[in-house]
Amino acid sequence: MRVIITENFKALSLYAAQQIAMAIRRKPNLVLGLATGRTPIGTYEELVKMHREEGLDFSKVVTFNLDEYHGLKPTDPSSYNYFMWEHLFKHININPENVYIPDGTIPVTGIREYCLWYENRINFFGGIDLQLLGIGNTGHIGFNDPGSSLASDTRLKVLSLKTKKQNGPDFGGADKVPDCAITMGIGTIMQAKTIILLASGSKKARILARALEEPVTSLVPASILQMHPWVKIVADEEAASKLRWKNHYRRVEEVRKRIGYEEVYVK
Ligand code: GLP
Repeated sequence: MRVIITENFKALSLYAAQQIAMAIRRKPNLVLGLATGRTPIGTYEELVKMHREEGLDFSKVVTFNLDEYHGLKPTDPSSYNYFMWEHLFKHININPENVYIPDGTIPVTGIREYCLWYENRINFFGGIDLQLLGIGNTGHIGFNDPGSSLASDTRLKVLSLKTKKQNGPDFGGADKVPDCAITMGIGTIMQAKTIILLASGSKKARILARALEEPVTSLVPASILQMHPWVKIVADEEAASKLRWKNHYRRVEEVRKRIGYEEVYVK
């Protein structure tokens, strides 16, 4: 696990976008796992800029989103489908057939089958090469709130009240946030070949420290990333402020830079 500490949100966004761009240039048909929330918005802005100014080509890229609220149509402005088109897809040359986002309109009776299909699609493309993640205030990744099985696959999850509260502003109040979401499981996420988790702002400092520097527990779902062989945590100064080992993480990056040691980030 590498921890990259950036000066601020802008630098974090640029770093993440550069990692993704590098992966796409190395593997034009990259299978890219994508996240929503405020944190990746800056990364998407940088990617759009790279597409416009440097011709970063998304025509062969396949994307899988982590999650979607259950009961929302793709046209609903609060849906993650809408979010992704607004912030990224409509600004780049992605083939709409290569965009996969869980469908929030699937009736409850069909969800199990639908989730298996979603997992199968990921496998059909050879698995996710690079998964982008944020971290929720509860320590969730995707919508895997505390108590989620660390081996879970794509399924319907009942959201915690804390998560409904966190995402309340997107709906005009926590009580208006849907009770359930379809989310990739923690097991699904852990199968991604490489992972980048973004954390920004002082509100994430405590949960990030718990996830990275305390024992792995299903009560802090992001802590499972300690078990992933190829993960980068990119945190800005504020989010990193409670990391006890932050000076060590900085030193690791300094030494790596000095000796010119950088792995290829797509296997
Ligand atoms: C939502 C998403 C998560 C995301 C989290 C953090 O709950 N389901 O994938 O990581 O929000 O959001 P933010 O980046 O706005 O803090």
